[in-house]
Amino acid sequence: MIIAHRGASNLAPENTCASIKKAIELKADGIEIDIHLSKDNHIVVHHDYTTKRLSNKNFIIKDCTLAKLKEFEVGSHIGEEFKNEKIPTLNEILELLPNNIYLFIEIKSDKSILPFLNKELEKFPELKNQIFIIGFSKDVALASKVLMKEIPFYFLYSNKENEINTATLNELINFCKSNNLEGLDLDWKLINQQVSSEISKNDLKLYCWTVNNEIDAENLFKMGVHGITTDKPELFKQNK
Ligand code: G3P
Ligand code: CA
Repeated sequence: MIIAHRGASNLAPENTCASIKKAIELKADGIEIDIHLSKDNHIVVHHDYTTKRLSNKNFIIKDCTLAKLKEFEVGSHIGEEFKNEKIPTLNEILELLPNNIYLFIEIKSDKSILPFLNKELEKFPELKNQIFIIGFSKDVALASKVLMKEIPFYFLYSNKENEINTATLNELINFCKSNNLEGLDLDWKLINQQVSSEISKNDLKLYCWTVNNEIDAENLFKMGVHGITTDKPELFKQNK
């Protein structure tokens, strides 16, 4: 599976309707987005905790209303043609999603976002089998599995050493198994054949991020990963 990281973020501004549409056009198998809860309880799609890097105006997402967040443009840092791109809501992205592309929703907020996420997803029952939730927080993973137990959750993990020792790998596998998580979504640099085989032996799926060249992708698929998340889906999907 080729998953477009923040949409086709090499070709259009990350986490915008433009990058999502581009990923759809390229026929990515999946799309990854990041979500936060606004001050007035809307789910918005943005990576950072502030608006600074993409809009040059420095506001904390969770302290802004949706109306305030919609004042910022988050596209012209890539090119003038994207100057009308705004921070999208999750609803806008779900409206765009065709019935043959998976959506990996990364929760950047704390678990207070979950009831709002559940309500939003309930508005799109036709997408029920295409939605996966991912996140780095154990707290969020556990609460997500209580509230939305039928939605697969993949636990994200990375570390500074770019290497995973046996104890940590076992701990991650046990966390998934004992809480009914479907698998792991690892920084690709942590993955080798042994890591991949151990995860698969435990009947868990393995995804990874962020893989931006074809040789690394090929090696990872040979090791048995289920999908790679990439800023450049065009490398894998264009003319294919
Ligand atoms: O797909 C997971 C990956 O997106 C996690 O890292 O910082 O890009 O959200 P980040
Ligand atoms: Ca992410």
